[in-house]
Amino acid sequence: MLRGKKILLGISGSIAAYKAAMLTRLFVKQEAEVKVIMTDTAKSFITPLTLSTLSKNPVYSTFEKDDTGIWNNHVELGLWADVLIIAPASANTIAKMAHGICDNLLLATYLSAKCPVFVAPAMDLDMYVHPSNRSNLEQLTSYGNKLIDAGHGELASGLMGQGRLAEPEEIIEKIDTYFSSQEGLQGKQVMITAGPTYEAIDPVRFIGNHSSGKMGYALAEAAAMQGATVILVSGPTSMKIKHPNVIIKPVTTAQEMYDACKDTFPNSDISIMAAAVADYSPEHVHQQKIKKKGDTYQIAMVKTKDIAAELGKIKKEGQITVGFALETENELQNANKKLLSKNFDMIVLNSLNDNGAGFGHDTNKITLIDKDNNTAVFELKDKVQVAKDIIDAIILRTHA
Ligand code: CTP
Repeated sequence: MLRGKKILLGISGSIAAYKAAMLTRLFVKQEAEVKVIMTDTAKSFITPLTLSTLSKNPVYSTFEKDDTGIWNNHVELGLWADVLIIAPASANTIAKMAHGICDNLLLATYLSAKCPVFVAPAMDLDMYVHPSNRSNLEQLTSYGNKLIDAGHGELASGLMGQGRLAEPEEIIEKIDTYFSSQEGLQGKQVMITAGPTYEAIDPVRFIGNHSSGKMGYALAEAAAMQGATVILVSGPTSMKIKHPNVIIKPVTTAQEMYDACKDTFPNSDISIMAAAVADYSPEHVHQQKIKKKGDTYQIAMVKTKDIAAELGKIKKEGQITVGFALETENELQNANKKLLSKNFDMIVLNSLNDNGAGFGHDTNKITLIDKDNNTAVFELKDKVQVAKDIIDAIILRTHA
């Protein structure tokens, strides 16, 4: 997966710099092209000769090219790289990166780089948890840099705790996952349910709900933009789809939605259940319009099939299912229950207690919970952006 990828490895001053040798070797073994930039302090921990030998390239640490008088190495290197990884990133380097300080080649390259940047910190535990370091790391991630968190264990000082540079294998895996996720959903079939269902009472009346279908349709567009073929099983809605890779299967009732999903599901790599499916349907559909009679009227209702739960039972290894939970109380608890009972890999929680979330709005505020207990809380956003966040999370999961 890393074959031909251009990896720029920045090494700063930390005892963990010795691990950069193994990291370089693993990258080269995977046929990546590796160039190394070292800070002066890093050279006290590992020699440029070791790294140039392992990377099969010169090691960079000054702005000038030999004898040429050209001083813009940093720009060239920044443009060359597919990815910049700073490992180990010392507290000093992290602080400078967070504040735009630029007093060595590594920092200048970081500021020039247009490619994604991964930061793998290494330092002693008290330094790692110090509020100034934590806030610098938060600053870095807020700029879009990706943090490869330090591991726990024995530190060079003899102390035990968090601060160890992530193991080279873990760093390689993160980079590999990143490049895989760039392929998006090419070649994948994604099934999405959207909108409400209408359960007929008689030829002119039905029981429905306020779902607009906006979220499901935005998901369909977002998945198609990532290269997927999308089958959109849609209840009645006025929404329209623009992307040619979305095939709509229009349905009206919960039973029709179930039938369409049952056909589509076995060939789908990913299924997202965004529809607001009726939980109950009238036991009898009157063939003629019901006439007004008494002061009250009762309709006997029977449970519909729980589409998500049924699909959860027949899900095969490698298939991913994602559900929604629209809650009004005990939100996290209810969402977690649904995640388990419907055998979802991930659930999107929205609470009607959040202004601008849920049915009818153009915006939504979601919390993503996966079956490994990872929770991510998102800001209130436009549903188109929310759909992209959900699809990005699913893509990461497909490559995890
Ligand atoms: N769902 C479904 N089929 C149903 C009911 C729900 O596929 N008959 C799916 C929804 O599309 C959603 C998830 O299950 O992805 C949770 O839906 P929700 O209505 O919140 O859950 P219910 O199981 O119906 O629970 P309740 O209405 O009691 O909250």
